[in-house]
Amino acid sequence: MHIAAVIPAAGTGSRAGLGKNKIFGTLGGETVLFRTVSAFLRHPLVSSLIVSVNPCEREEAEAALAPCAGVLFAEGGKTRTRSVQNALEALAALPSPPDYVLIHDAARPFVTQKIIDDCIRTVRMFGSAVCALPCTDTAVLAEGGFIAKGVERDKLFTLQTPQGFSFPELLAAYRKIGDEENFTDDSGVFAKYAAPVRLFTGDRRNRKLTFAEDFAMEEYLTGIGTDTHAFGTEKDHIVLGGVKIPSKSGLVAHSDGDVLAHAVMDALLSAAGLYDIGHHFPDTDPQYKGANSLALMRRVHALLQEGGFSVVNVSAAIAAERPKLAPHIEKMKQNIADALQISAQRVGISAGTNEGLGYIGRGEGITVTATALIKRL
Ligand code: CTP
Ligand code: MG
Repeated sequence: MHIAAVIPAAGTGSRAGLGKNKIFGTLGGETVLFRTVSAFLRHPLVSSLIVSVNPCEREEAEAALAPCAGVLFAEGGKTRTRSVQNALEALAALPSPPDYVLIHDAARPFVTQKIIDDCIRTVRMFGSAVCALPCTDTAVLAEGGFIAKGVERDKLFTLQTPQGFSFPELLAAYRKIGDEENFTDDSGVFAKYAAPVRLFTGDRRNRKLTFAEDFAMEEYLTGIGTDTHAFGTEKDHIVLGGVKIPSKSGLVAHSDGDVLAHAVMDALLSAAGLYDIGHHFPDTDPQYKGANSLALMRRVHALLQEGGFSVVNVSAAIAAERPKLAPHIEKMKQNIADALQISAQRVGISAGTNEGLGYIGRGEGITVTATALIKRL
């Protein structure tokens, strides 16, 4: 059984206003076109794939699809209907044309393997398979800005792609289309010139990228940071997470020695791919002598915001033989949460001894390891 995928990509993406065809827009560093095409190539039952592209964008499309082996190209047309038709004719000219064809908009990169599975299963059973979503809002027919009549919602569906068809039947249907005729999708052609169209249930995530805001994708990044400070000053306290904690001696540092704040800041900077705190706040710079580390954390937060990031959560593990930290944890959480403008539930802090082992166990210093999760946008 030969199943081919047709990916119409020859629009202009005028509504997205990206200044280029939206299929060359990127999501997390990959073009929309690459994402869509690779989803179909990944499916074990799809054995050939053809993309309809504007002739002037052929090179750019080939470059975007360079990692994908064996992709065929057809010339795009003035309308989507023509772009698909050109691809179908190119498939018909192959030495062994496909038995089934799955047509899918290049502009729907979130198609899942399950949707492709369901499309193939349905088309093999019924000869057609159109991805559909039941209508969840109340729908009406309107005329001149007024409701003309209500419609039964249970019978309403919105159609997406992929749309699968028996290849010979769809080809024959396309060959019957008149010169002036235009269809918004392939089910319209099949329904008019071939046979009733079978629906299968799609997935809301499989949305079509149409407007600029559709490209705004949430991206999450994690980071790790660690810091160690040695005991050894005359002070009677240490500072952890901005909390002054009584101690037999203080931590040696250029700043206030807030080893917890330092590890958290490094985790945040690392998540954003930025240089560490030593770069931003060098300990050779006199302005950071005795610096309040929570004030520096507010500056790290501002740097993240400038980079388009917000903080999701931070988590830190303190290894210290002394002093006793448990009574101070809640206040540390609140201080860090305030500096990062998140709620205290999003700051996790655990503290433990090192069971007497090593420099921590001998009470010579404190080490903190922290992780951070940040979100782009
Ligand atoms: N398409 C095509 N040939 C055309 C027009 C559209 O191959 N002449 C493709 C688009 O590239 C897209 C799919 O059909 O993958 C769905 O079309 P649509 O979302 O309307 O994309 P555009 O026409 O590019 O966008 P717009 O209508 O905003 O200009
Ligand atoms: Mg269009």
